[in-house]
Amino acid sequence: MALVSLEGVGKTFRGKGGSWEAVRDFSLGLEEGEFCCLLGTSGCGKTTVLNMLAGFEPVTAGRILLDGQPVAGPGADRGVVFQGHDSLYDWLNALDNIAFGLRLAGMGKRARREKAGHFLRLVGLAGQEGKHPAELSGGMKQRIQIARALAADPRMLLMDEPFGALDAMTRAALQGELSRIWAETRKTVLFITHDIEEAVALATRIGVMTRGPGGTLKAVVPVDLPFPRERTSDAFMAVFRQVHALIHAEIHPQ
Ligand SMILES: Nc1ncnc2c1ncn2[C@@H]1O[C@H](COP(=O)(O)OP(=O)(O)OP(=O)(O)O)[C@@H](O)[C@H]1O
Ligand SMILES: [Mg+2]
Repeated sequence: MALVSLEGVGKTFRGKGGSWEAVRDFSLGLEEGEFCCLLGTSGCGKTTVLNMLAGFEPVTAGRILLDGQPVAGPGADRGVVFQGHDSLYDWLNALDNIAFGLRLAGMGKRARREKAGHFLRLVGLAGQEGKHPAELSGGMKQRIQIARALAADPRMLLMDEPFGALDAMTRAALQGELSRIWAETRKTVLFITHDIEEAVALATRIGVMTRGPGGTLKAVVPVDLPFPRERTSDAFMAVFRQVHALIHAEIHPQ
């Protein structure tokens, strides 16, 4: 059985100005341990899909099952990493930000500091534990978000364009780190991006969505390339071209 199954999932937002269909008839299964990237043009409904799986937004059609049970709200089994880094607590230092969820879960001070320290080192921030968010770079803050999500030991990581705001060098470095961490922890990952190269570098499968309104899953492309991936190899470029053609058809429909 798939760890997650989205079955005919739809989302229509209803407001004063009328209703807006953001996602239509979206079906996808995620196997335990896979790294699935979801790609699509701006506004096609990627964040909406992630928010429904995270339990932040209810579906308005279809259903989402996690381990066979319908998703009814947020849970510690799904760690979320948001775009940007506004979700860190300004008044807590790096270590305490990572330990925050552990404190809520009732873990003792010593144990949670030890665990948070482990994940701080895992994301390459040893020695930075005492800094507050205002004293950290954008890339460091994204690493802390990832460490915080991992520290809660979720079944899944849900990541919404986590590296979108970073410069190309930092982005490539963090992609490499995330890939290494995924190989080590084998968490199931749903990673949203609109960067084709990022998706081909990280994913075991790439889901491509149609453009909005009412975006749906258009195709799923398996990426059977060994890690670490050689971005200039012919095999990498072949997958890039395949995904590019799928996206391009959404931007420039015939
Ligand atoms: N809370 C909301 N209320 C009303 N409409 C919404 C809401 N959230 C999203 N939408 C609409 O749903 C559609 C899909 O939005 P979504 O944020 O999922 O797109 P996206 O694929 O993540 O885009 P981007 O790549 O720009 O982040 C958009 O048209 C958006 O305006
Ligand atoms: Mg989005």
